[in-house]
Amino acid sequence: MEMEEVSAQEEEPPGGTPLIRASNMEKRLRLRKFFVKFEGANPTGTQKDRISLSHVRRAALGGYDVLSLGTCGNYGASVAYYSRIYGKRTVVGIPSAYTACRRSEIESYGASILGLEGTYEEALGTMGDLARDNNWYDCNPGSVNSDVDLSGYQTIADEIISQLGHAPEIVSVPVGNGTTLAGIFEGFRKAYQSGTTDRIPSIIGASTSGGNPIVESWKKGYRTIRNLRADQIRETGTNEPLISYRPTNGQEALTAIYQSRGYAEYVTDEEMLYYSRFVEQAEGISALPASSSAIASAVKVLGRIGNDRECVIVLTGRGRT
Ligand SMILES: Cc1ncc(COP(=O)(O)O)c(C=O)c1O
Repeated sequence: MEMEEVSAQEEEPPGGTPLIRASNMEKRLRLRKFFVKFEGANPTGTQKDRISLSHVRRAALGGYDVLSLGTCGNYGASVAYYSRIYGKRTVVGIPSAYTACRRSEIESYGASILGLEGTYEEALGTMGDLARDNNWYDCNPGSVNSDVDLSGYQTIADEIISQLGHAPEIVSVPVGNGTTLAGIFEGFRKAYQSGTTDRIPSIIGASTSGGNPIVESWKKGYRTIRNLRADQIRETGTNEPLISYRPTNGQEALTAIYQSRGYAEYVTDEEMLYYSRFVEQAEGISALPASSSAIASAVKVLGRIGNDRECVIVLTGRGRT
């Protein structure tokens, strides 16, 4: 099947998001150089758009009519958005227990939602099986097509370097599967190797105290990721994008944190909600509470290593208010 023609006007490209100096937060938190890389400015409000368009294009080139994935909501909205532009259908598996507030948006893009019993990790398995059995394009995290994901997120590092003119000392990233963090690290590593920058930032992995093996393994000093048991995690409506007992890119993210001389922090729901309100009041940025884990973690780390460090937070959300 031929790839359908898509006009540039219809296809709002991902990326090119703003880097905002958070000067009010600097004053209130006594920080020196604090920036927000606002991924909420992507067409569907998250960094997922950076990989979804590439998946949909690859599916179109491969002659697939249907794309399959499991999601907590954000990735599903993003793939469904681009699939519709390319005239493709998306089947999205969401764990029934998840709040996944983006269900109606996903359906508004013409995607079908399967409510699946069990965990997020099991949903990825089910959607991968359905893709294989029905010859659908598999864009599940960790699928055979997931090379797209790491290269897509590298562009966040490239943009930060060109917007700032150099690589910052610290970059703080919300972590679920660890894919975003691993991709961003890879971008900085390549820039360093090619001589574009003279350093690789220390990367902070920010996740939920409800449970994530990347933070857990780093805190315990393990070099090899040790997954948790499914009964060790506690999901809530706030922490869903970050909760995990078997992250698809856990090892890559853990290695990235070590290689960058970085840090990993757990953040409670209360802290996420607090910093999401804080960034809205201080900077007029409406942030997804889960992504505000990156602010909370950075504040903790900077408090320990020095508030004068130059730090960039990767944040998603609904935009500036
Ligand atoms: C808005 C948002 N931020 C961060 C993450 C975590 O990204 P990753 O799974 O690549 O670690 C997710 C995952 O769904 C997300 O939806």
